[in-house]
Amino acid sequence: MSREFKLWKIVLILFFTLSSSTYHSNGKLILEGSATFDSSGFTKLTNTSKHSYGHVFNSNPVLFKNSSFNFHFHFGIVPEHNHSGTHGMTCVLSPTRHLPGVSSDQYLGLFNKTTDGKTSNNIIAIELDIHKDEEFGDLDDNHVGININGLRSVISAPAGYYDDNDGKFHNLSLVSGKVMRLSIVYSQPDEQLNVTLSPAEFSETPLKPLLSLKRDLSPYILEEMYLGFTASTGSVGAIHYMLNSVSGPEVDYPSFDISVVPTLPLYPKKVTDKTRIVLAACLILAMTVAFVTSLIGFFFYMRHKKVREVLEEWEVQYGPHRFAYKELFNATKGFKEKQILGSGGFGQVYKGTLPGVLCSYQAESVRPDMSAVMRILNGVLQLPDNLLDVVRAERLRGQPEISMGMLLDMNSMSTLPFTNSFISHGR
Ligand SMILES: *[C@@H]1O[C@H](CO)[C@@H](O)[C@H](O)[C@H]1NC(C)=O
Ligand SMILES: *[C@@H]1O[C@H](CO)[C@@H](O)[C@H](O)[C@H]1NC(C)=O
Ligand SMILES: *[C@@H]1O[C@H](CO)[C@@H](O)[C@H](O)[C@H]1NC(C)=O
Ligand SMILES: *[C@@H]1O[C@H](CO)[C@@H](O)[C@H](O)[C@H]1NC(C)=O
Ligand SMILES: *[C@@H]1O[C@H](CO)[C@@H](O)[C@H](O)[C@H]1NC(C)=O
Ligand SMILES: *[C@@H]1O[C@H](CO)[C@@H](O)[C@H](O)[C@H]1NC(C)=O
Repeated sequence: MSREFKLWKIVLILFFTLSSSTYHSNGKLILEGSATFDSSGFTKLTNTSKHSYGHVFNSNPVLFKNSSFNFHFHFGIVPEHNHSGTHGMTCVLSPTRHLPGVSSDQYLGLFNKTTDGKTSNNIIAIELDIHKDEEFGDLDDNHVGININGLRSVISAPAGYYDDNDGKFHNLSLVSGKVMRLSIVYSQPDEQLNVTLSPAEFSETPLKPLLSLKRDLSPYILEEMYLGFTASTGSVGAIHYMLNSVSGPEVDYPSFDISVVPTLPLYPKKVTDKTRIVLAACLILAMTVAFVTSLIGFFFYMRHKKVREVLEEWEVQYGPHRFAYKELFNATKGFKEKQILGSGGFGQVYKGTLPGVLCSYQAESVRPDMSAVMRILNGVLQLPDNLLDVVRAERLRGQPEISMGMLLDMNSMSTLPFTNSFISHGR
């Protein structure tokens, strides 16, 4: 087993996605579903759509029948939420370069409910699974597995690597958004498949593989096999990136010297959605405020309308003259019981003394009409003699001012038009 980078022996399938061309030394890349070449030059297997899947296949077959092989590729998964996304991606060897009828979500864009587990699939896949699916006996939500013909892994392990120096296991988070490398190497003579995960910064692949499967894979490998990558999303988004891949028909662990490990873009913020939500919230708030304001306005309007004092004809001419509640209160000595003359349909009639002109004399012939009262009040007209007599007569009876009935609306405690205060006298 050579660990040197032997360029002349390696069939290079460089997926360095130069957006200008999708043609590569070993053929064309076929994109399906949500897969795209993104502006930063990476292959995106999934976009921000939920419950979707994407494929990238090389248009030319790789012939590995009865042979050893090696695949190495760089990838990265950028989840929608911090350290949480669904569902994962796979590197797949398939007899066809296109997988019809496959499903998203837990099927990883690789199988569907009916094709999962069928021996006729002849599919070997390495899954980078970021969601624990109990139905397939998943270990956890961050594992690597070897799958043959189905989603139930033949062997799997939590994502990580064994340190070459001390042999210690180090966890790696598949959804960290960091670029990592996966090496898949199969030795036909040993009938052994090794899968090793490592940070992209490592130029050498760790010696101890994460997964090692002792099995003859030749029964599953048909004459023509295609190399591809699949990924799917579920209810939580994740963007699955495939940066490049290198493969060859032998047991080989080339050196990778990536001087600058690329940084993957952040998961796109739903700016438009957020803005829309903020705008909608503002609109709803404005509408609520407007509604409440108009409701309050309507309430006060109705209240005002109810207690509004209608100006009468004589008031229009002489200006309103009404008894303020305070005046009435004083006149009736605080609405004392003994001041009550009786109750009527309009409320209680109080006996009160009012300063100024007195004009509710019983005899209609003597009592001035409202226009005269107003003129007297305004000092335009002198108090007529007959009224002066009345005032004198009342004074003689020991009352400083002539009594009058007032109708008080005790319910609203509002003032009443002058005229209303004469209703008790039938005028
Ligand atoms: C994702 O890809 C699918 C399939 O090409 C497409 O229909 C969908 O609009 C894409 N979603 C976004 C958010 O770009
Ligand atoms: C593959 O190897 C088996 C035995 O290892 C042999 O019988 C068969 O003929 C070989 N097939 C090819 C296509 O080389
Ligand atoms: C993301 O989650 C990890 C733990 O799962 C936490 O340590 C880290 O601070 C979180 N980062 C952000 C930006 O929330
Ligand atoms: C699964 O895919 C096959 C084709 O590969 C298709 O015939 C079948 O209808 C699909 N089944 C479901 C449940 O989608
Ligand atoms: C690796 O992660 C698992 C669970 O996420 C934890 O139980 C274990 O202690 C971690 N190991 C190391 C070496 O950090
Ligand atoms: C697989 O890993 C085992 C254990 O480290 C090693 O002995 C074997 O040579 C490896 N085989 C391949 C094909 O890498």
